[in-house]
Amino acid sequence: MSSYSIQSLEHYFRVYRRSVRKPKKFWGRIAEDNFTWYQKWEKVVEFDMQEARFTWFKNGKLNITKNCIDRHLANLGDKNAIIFEPNNPNEPARHYTYNQLYSEVSRMANVLRDQGVKKGDRVCIYLPMIPELAIAMLACARIGAIHSVVFAGFSAQALSARINDCTCRMLITADGGYRGSKKISLKQIADEALSQTPSIEKVLVVKRTGERVSMKEERDQWLQPLLEQAAAASKAEVMDAEEPLFILYTSGSTGKPKGMLHTTAGYMVYTAYTFKNIFNYQQDDVYWCTADIGWITGHSYILYGPLLNGATTVIFEGIPSYPDYSRFWEVIQKHRVNQFYTSPTAIRSLAKEKIEYVQRFQLDSLKVIGSVGEPINEEAWHWYNDHVGNKRCPLVDTWWQTETGGILISAIPFVTPTKPTYASLPLPGIRPVLMDELRNEITGNQKTGNLCIEFPWPAIARTIWGDHQRYIDTYFSKYPGKYFTGDGALRDEVGYYRITGRVDDVIIVSGHNLGTAPIEDVISEHPYVAESAIVGIPHEIKGNALYGFVVLKETGLWRDRNNLIREINQLITDQIGPIAKLEKIQFVNGLPKTRSGKIMRRILRKIAEGEDSDFGDVTTLVDPDIVEEIRRERV
Ligand code: PRX
Repeated sequence: MSSYSIQSLEHYFRVYRRSVRKPKKFWGRIAEDNFTWYQKWEKVVEFDMQEARFTWFKNGKLNITKNCIDRHLANLGDKNAIIFEPNNPNEPARHYTYNQLYSEVSRMANVLRDQGVKKGDRVCIYLPMIPELAIAMLACARIGAIHSVVFAGFSAQALSARINDCTCRMLITADGGYRGSKKISLKQIADEALSQTPSIEKVLVVKRTGERVSMKEERDQWLQPLLEQAAAASKAEVMDAEEPLFILYTSGSTGKPKGMLHTTAGYMVYTAYTFKNIFNYQQDDVYWCTADIGWITGHSYILYGPLLNGATTVIFEGIPSYPDYSRFWEVIQKHRVNQFYTSPTAIRSLAKEKIEYVQRFQLDSLKVIGSVGEPINEEAWHWYNDHVGNKRCPLVDTWWQTETGGILISAIPFVTPTKPTYASLPLPGIRPVLMDELRNEITGNQKTGNLCIEFPWPAIARTIWGDHQRYIDTYFSKYPGKYFTGDGALRDEVGYYRITGRVDDVIIVSGHNLGTAPIEDVISEHPYVAESAIVGIPHEIKGNALYGFVVLKETGLWRDRNNLIREINQLITDQIGPIAKLEKIQFVNGLPKTRSGKIMRRILRKIAEGEDSDFGDVTTLVDPDIVEEIRRERV
């Protein structure tokens, strides 16, 4: 039996043991049996965990789009590759067969080439969830350009910072985008960003909303007329296994966003293999992941993983609450979705609405349901399992990160027994370990610790664009020889893992990673603000929300409190995006600091969470009285 598709728990354990004992043989076999290569690799893996250097499938030559599209044309050419479900349920869905996808991607690839984009160039994509987003990414991969997708909810400043960090030559955007009842003027936001991005030479604009936009001569062009003139066939660039495929930015606990770089062959092999197993995809299935392609979940499990398996993948433009709370369930019924993958925040927000929203729809097509992006609490797990999965679909809680490229810990449906709130067992090739603060490995079960991974897997990020030292410092220094995830985890009595949350200053709000320091930096730009500290508080829907303690330059300044709160949140919206807005702001006279100037966030976290005592040792603080003062005035 091949290792590609795992059939039973016993088979999983056998494959897992083999993958750990002989990783080269294991991954080499999967890579050889399931993909198209121009030239075979010389060595499966070479690595150095101290220096964070990874080479998978050394000197192998391939193009990922050949594997996503071309090789399916002979047998699956008329099968739907993409089903596009628009924001407005009255607008007809659009279907793209593999044949059509080949033509569309080829046209776009030819346009990019005509516009002077070459192998290795960075192309920024700032688009709503429309098929052109997927097509643009694949077109970049076709010609060897590196795509850098920026989530369309990010602000102009966040966009320009990302464009400048990796010096993109081209921007692909749209006139606007729909999100529920709102229209977002993307080109207008992009124009603001473009006033600060000297590297951008060309801008291609997709027409989606039809709103009026300004077009700068020489630089800006409508995309559609260019596509119409372009040839519908294209040559795929020969890529080395380790040549970059994309950059995707993720927040760090400090500093500017990190441009995680993923390369071609390892990412391809790993996302394809994990997609097949974690969703138990069968040839006639329709698969739907509700994430935005602007995040890693969309890259790996809306686009690459499904297409590499010849799957039908749904791209959904809308939101779960528009036109009402039944939208997800209606789409599942409409397209007879078999695998459904969403976030705990979406589940929690829908679970609080009337159950009739779900019950009105036929969800009997579903076979597997999945969760991603943040811990799923027990209540949400049961609601999802009972009302959506109808207690018959395995619920896979998939743990992974932008940096990992693909899912590392998850149940395999019909193989691994699930347990609420547990991601469960590592996938083949993944060796998790728990570590304590003193760098000792925590052995045995029923233990918690910092989650590390001992051995590289093919989709591990290769570097942070332009800053390899930061890559080493962030992930490979705290526990030498291991990849440190930044998450805490509990290992239960049978070896199942439960992710307990971040152990650093990253806070996951509605499944989005937010570093506290970058938000604090933005708040400090307000002319009245002296300094601030942000902590996470539990939130019923979003998992966590942000609570800010803000010190003003003069105490009298907070008299117009509401206005100030609005201004601070507006600054955050402008510079990062609305997802980073603070739920609560408390103006304080000072922050609890140690003599060395370090803010004791532990205390602030407890106060924000509503605790009244038990703040631990406060004797090392410069001003211990400030703790009681802050507690009294909690908002
Ligand atoms: O804290 C973990 C949480 O999301 C972080 C990674 O965020 P990002 O890079 O944006 O990728 C999100 C999509 C893969 C992790 O460090 N996280 C992700 N999945 C889970 C999770 N926490 C608990 N359970 C999960 N299933």
